Amino acid sequence: MHYFITTPIYYANDAPHIGHAYTTIAADVLARYHRRVGDDVFFLTGTDEHGAKIAEAARQAGMDPQTFTDRIAEEYRAAWGRLEISHDGFIRTTSPRHKDAVGVFLQRLYDAGDVYRGRYEGFYCVGCERFLTEDELVSGLCPLHNRPPVPYAEDNYFFRLSRYQDALIRGLTNPADPNHYEVDPPARRNEVLGKLNVGLSDISISRATLTWGIPLPFDPGQTTYVWVDALINYVSAIGYVDDPATFQRYWPANLHLMAKDILWFHAIVWPAMLLSAGLALPRRIYAHGFFTIGGQKMSKTLGNIILPAELVERFGADASRYLLLSEFPFGTDGDVSLESMTARYNADLANDVGNLLNRTVAMVNRYCQGAVPEPGPAAPKDDDRKDDDRKDDDRKDEDLRGSAQQAVAEMHRALGALEFHAATAAIRGLATRANKYVDETAPWVLARSDRARLGTVLHNLVETERILSELAWPFLPSASEEMASQLGVPLGVAGDWSGGALAWGQLPVRTRVAASPRPLFPKLLT
Ligand code: MSP
Repeated sequence: MHYFITTPIYYANDAPHIGHAYTTIAADVLARYHRRVGDDVFFLTGTDEHGAKIAEAARQAGMDPQTFTDRIAEEYRAAWGRLEISHDGFIRTTSPRHKDAVGVFLQRLYDAGDVYRGRYEGFYCVGCERFLTEDELVSGLCPLHNRPPVPYAEDNYFFRLSRYQDALIRGLTNPADPNHYEVDPPARRNEVLGKLNVGLSDISISRATLTWGIPLPFDPGQTTYVWVDALINYVSAIGYVDDPATFQRYWPANLHLMAKDILWFHAIVWPAMLLSAGLALPRRIYAHGFFTIGGQKMSKTLGNIILPAELVERFGADASRYLLLSEFPFGTDGDVSLESMTARYNADLANDVGNLLNRTVAMVNRYCQGAVPEPGPAAPKDDDRKDDDRKDDDRKDEDLRGSAQQAVAEMHRALGALEFHAATAAIRGLATRANKYVDETAPWVLARSDRARLGTVLHNLVETERILSELAWPFLPSASEEMASQLGVPLGVAGDWSGGALAWGQLPVRTRVAASPRPLFPKLLT
């Protein structure tokens, strides 16, 4: 199956902060997950580089906008590299392929009779890059950016958004409609439906006086409105104009991911543009919540911005990914703080996952010279253990194996539902369960009293951790590989997730663990 997943393209007016990282990591986890289940994945991210906001930032930096955005785009690439983001495409809206696609796309809207010339008067917020209605203003200011919007009166081109109201309502509400698309979570879908039911006004899609943008194909004297330009990235990046085969392969997108701030553009404007251009609608649009830092909105003015590099320095890339997605449910707002992330790092990663690996590798070395025992033969009837003891052992083994299978099922369910915090809880839960298995089977006692049972226990532990390293990989790519390498079973040794990788009993014979454990997640001082 093809799987095309996108993040928003972020404004190239400043370096990325962890808000941008949040969406991008979530998309990366899904992309990695879909690759492991065997899908043909295209994961797209990039930068939004035109418009008044970027032109202003460049001016303030004393640079021409192209040089300025070249620099910011590099900062994005570097940040995503540090976070092990595995995107297949990085689109910049100043690239020739994107500019060409915008021209072709807009010409199609024009030819469909959906573009007309008119006069726009209103208030424009450069921070938001959109017009605000009077009732959105608070004491005359944009409530998000705390500054007055710019009065604006120009002759512009308009897109007949109003024409698509009924088609969008049908598409959103009727799964059998040829233009069916989904908006999630349900509260967001209701919001979108509410707006659709109230009615849509046509929108201005060009600027007469702003030069930092893509000229309209039917009137090069005007530039394309930055949001219209930006939305087209989702098709330009997969070859809408210059690579029809790739375009056919991946369009329509399976998932557009973003926060709720920009849902209107994705759930209403973009689908209407696609209908007008004669293209299929994305299958699913998901708007997650916002996070705050220590209870406050992250903002430059408050000085509480956390940069991805700071997180990576403190926790490492893998743990940063895991921690950001564990703090609160994806669809809601929530707070993140370095304190709670540090506490979770120590509890989930240093203690549970890290310690489990450490003690397992140490025990296999100490008791079995590094060779993972083969699963013990069924205990002979006449061994000197009582039947009750044997049943008790079987129950513990069954329970561990059941927990591993449950974690696998939960991972599939949670990632299908975009419940990243539940998916990370499944990782941690399995590590906790395996640590409990160590405590209740007490291998250090078995080493003296029952070698056969010791072999079974250690084998079960390594097998559980092999599955754990597979399951954790979308979140903790390097740590999982390191875990698998210390266990002596490379990831994927039993195929991908649709094959045997997650099934119990795949541990290769004659597996040898590393000669000594290396800490995966060194404990942090609080
Ligand atoms: N350039 C537009 C998007 C165009 S897409 C065709 C834009 N850029 S942005 O840089 O402002 O990025 C907004 C997105 O960044 C949000 O939708 C969300 O994905 C992410 N986030 C930014 N701050 C965030 C939080 N504090 N919390 C959660 N997500 C955050 O809008």
